[in-house]
Amino acid sequence: MDKIKETKEKIALVIDPSSEKTLGETNGVKHVAIDDEKESVNLVIGLNEVDDKTKQVVTRSLAKIIKLDLKYKGLKIDFQLLKLDNSILSKSREVKYIGIASGKGGVGKSTVAANLALALTRLGKKVGLIDADVYGSSIPTIFDMDIQLPKANADEKIIPFVKEGIEIISTEFFLRDEKPLMWRGPMLGKMLNHFFYDIAWDEAIEYMVVDLPPGTGDVAMDIQKLIPQSQMLIITTPHPSASHVAIKAGYAAKELKHELIGVVENMSFFTHKEERINIFGEGGGKRVAEKLDTDLIAQIPIGQPQSGHHSLFDVHEPIGIDYLGLANKIIKSM
Ligand SMILES: Nc1ncnc2c1ncn2[C@@H]1O[C@H](COP(=O)(O)OP(=O)(O)O)[C@@H](O)[C@H]1O
Ligand SMILES: [Mg+2]
Repeated sequence: MDKIKETKEKIALVIDPSSEKTLGETNGVKHVAIDDEKESVNLVIGLNEVDDKTKQVVTRSLAKIIKLDLKYKGLKIDFQLLKLDNSILSKSREVKYIGIASGKGGVGKSTVAANLALALTRLGKKVGLIDADVYGSSIPTIFDMDIQLPKANADEKIIPFVKEGIEIISTEFFLRDEKPLMWRGPMLGKMLNHFFYDIAWDEAIEYMVVDLPPGTGDVAMDIQKLIPQSQMLIITTPHPSASHVAIKAGYAAKELKHELIGVVENMSFFTHKEERINIFGEGGGKRVAEKLDTDLIAQIPIGQPQSGHHSLFDVHEPIGIDYLGLANKIIKSM
């Protein structure tokens, strides 16, 4: 069995004495990360009350499972207060998560995430955007944002930046000079926990767009597990090299019980003298949609944004209108 799953299942049975319920019942298992090299486990546990006595009792029960039963050498636990968990995750019913996934990088995943967030905003929705692509974060570049550490509010929640009316948080703001390789094990777990639990999002947010890491590696899957309620949009180009791996990414998302919203084929064609030229071939999006038993909901052509932004399309440009159509479909289908 998957090691993380096994660990989660076991510790879900631990009782939180402050609520007299199991961690499974209180949804208190906030994060599980396993560092294979150090043979250690990192946990983020939410408790009803975080006093020393409660922490001690729970630590003892968890250590018994992790060290004695599962034979890990190390254990690190971060506790947080469940009651104060005012992250939007705890109100997940109101916020709709749109995970943007792809099989490989360079297909336009971030471009779609950014323009979709913008189109939803233009349609009057309150939108948040989480750039969780730890390998190649590019949302700050797309929105022309300075790379700076966000500030925290009085509750020690991180205040997201706002651009084009969208609240934005990116791994890039925290990484600075560090290499993406740092994004492993405990480091990764900690950062992502901030991402999904410690952000002072506007309570009015209705849609949360998440730019996921490409592929089906451990990191991409761990991040998807943090947003179990997320529905997925799969991005591909028409080319088989992209569609082939996009199908795998779709299968992986389905395996994690994510619903698929549909497939977006990006860089579908190029229009020259009113003629469609299929630079990257044809049929990738359709193939992916068929294999995953979902719909091809948009085909975005190759374009050059005229709005002055690197990759944001204006409402008056044809691609800007395509994105409004995509946003509309998504609003109706979720
Ligand atoms: N429809 C499009 N037309 C033209 N260029 C695009 C389009 N979609 C994406 N790009 C460009 O392709 C490159 C890769 O896109 P990006 O969104 O960063 O991909 P990913 O996030 O999948 O790695 C970027 O330079 C982006 O501006
Ligand atoms: Mg990207």
